[in-house]
Amino acid sequence: MQRKAIASRVPAGAAIHGRSFIPRIGLIILMMISALPNLAAQDSRKIAVVPMPVTVEAGDGAFNLAPETRIIVDAATRNTGQMLALWLRPATGYALKVTRGEPADGAINLTLDRSLGRLGSEGYVLEVTPARVNISAATEAGVFHAAETLRQLLPAAVFAATLQQGVDWTAPVVRIEDQPRFRWRGAMLDVSRHFMPKEHVLRFIDLLAIHKLNTFHWHLTDDQGWRIQIKRYPRLTEVGAWRKETRLGHERKSPHGFDKQPHGGFYTQKEIREVVEYARQRHIEIVPEIEMPGHAQAAIAAYPELGVTGQPLEVWTQWGVNANIFNPSEKTILFLQNVLTEVVELFPGQFIHVGGDEAIKDQWKSSPEVQARIKELGLKDEHEMQSYFIRRMDSFLAAKGRRLIGWDEILDGGLAPGATVMSWRGVEGGITAAKSGHDVVMSPTTHVYLDYAQSQDATELPNIGGNLPLETVYAFEPLPAALTAEEARHVLGAQANIWTEYMPSPGHVEYMAFPRLLAMAEVGWTSPERKNYDDFLTRVLVHEQRLRNLGVNFRPLKPAS
Ligand code: ACM
Repeated sequence: MQRKAIASRVPAGAAIHGRSFIPRIGLIILMMISALPNLAAQDSRKIAVVPMPVTVEAGDGAFNLAPETRIIVDAATRNTGQMLALWLRPATGYALKVTRGEPADGAINLTLDRSLGRLGSEGYVLEVTPARVNISAATEAGVFHAAETLRQLLPAAVFAATLQQGVDWTAPVVRIEDQPRFRWRGAMLDVSRHFMPKEHVLRFIDLLAIHKLNTFHWHLTDDQGWRIQIKRYPRLTEVGAWRKETRLGHERKSPHGFDKQPHGGFYTQKEIREVVEYARQRHIEIVPEIEMPGHAQAAIAAYPELGVTGQPLEVWTQWGVNANIFNPSEKTILFLQNVLTEVVELFPGQFIHVGGDEAIKDQWKSSPEVQARIKELGLKDEHEMQSYFIRRMDSFLAAKGRRLIGWDEILDGGLAPGATVMSWRGVEGGITAAKSGHDVVMSPTTHVYLDYAQSQDATELPNIGGNLPLETVYAFEPLPAALTAEEARHVLGAQANIWTEYMPSPGHVEYMAFPRLLAMAEVGWTSPERKNYDDFLTRVLVHEQRLRNLGVNFRPLKPAS
């Protein structure tokens, strides 16, 4: 398994942290400090919404939430009304009644108002007066986002899971008019390198929703584990979901050992349906990813005939990029299309991600069978072979009414006609794709790879290396100057990626994700004129109290000095 000199997301010259004891002590100290009351952030009456809304007109006075406050809904807003009641209940102890009716005083009124179309498919108006709260939007998603904003107007204690005594449950008088800058505000979670239990995935979705992120890219397959049940091919999870052990230490560090602990897990189709429904209720689209033709070792371990060499393989126990790749035969293409058929049945969203990154072509180069196929298909080289392979998936998905998305390597050898590009090796792939009329999502290592270190401090938890502080994420501009206004319309938005080689637990994922995902939320939602890093930091300080009440293992803004 030779690492190739291809684009890799392991940062060059990266500071490497082993899984040593020292960072864990650091974390414990940080967690103890973060549990202390933060005086600067005690003033939760201050309006400190993340991400920053389009307009915030503050007034005098406040709306007082009381046990008799009603949540008044219409047919379209009932779901959000009920969710709001559930959110408010544990900390306040109030069992707020959700009722149908006309907006009234003494109530939180949730109204679908089609005349607010100017605010787009996710915008909303939120008015807090001493007498009532009015939420209105042209869509259910807009109403939902407004309810999330309202939650952030209440004292941070409202996010606690247990009854909070002596809190003044008021929201300041304000009028907020809001809508997102981009339609794709995403976060990717890799559950292959380390399996994350369903409960953690649901919690992650909640955390995305709180921050108005609307796309959950679920990286379900890779060399180290296949995590989605496919009924037609049971060995994908019987064999492919389990590895016998995991490499210790950083992939660039040698010598190294193994933990000798089997690791694995997968989601049944029933569980996936549950996650999809949970996300739907929170107006989050899930984009499932099935990796091909590289990052396929777990699948090939399950079904060796899908590989090129025919050699038996085990689910990979190491990190990095390896040479094992799907055989681009008709048999493999049919197999993967059958997999996609089940994936499409499970996930109702528009996009299906087929990976496409870091597919080393050495096995294709040295295989007489693959070379004969390249010749038979009249293709120039292995890149065109990959392009052909992806095109077959593109037309297959298009026939099912879906859209293919892949990492920017799918540009190599020619982009499939319907493909959307996720630009990760910088934004250049995205620029090329947008200029040729394809939609793109910007997700470059330079700004949004949340597996990179948050600082060079020795107290950071183990990570892949690099240095990606909060400020760098905040500064990300998804629209490159190289695009004309017309081309820029192809930039659907931006996405942060959480690869989990060095994140063995949900708590470790949360530490890497927060607060950087807050910056990402603002990149996707807030227009550049409204962005201000210093102002953001003051809001993050308040927001830390909310995260603390939610039990999120965030990295504090002000670590121990
Ligand atoms: C990637 O980070 N390999 C898409």
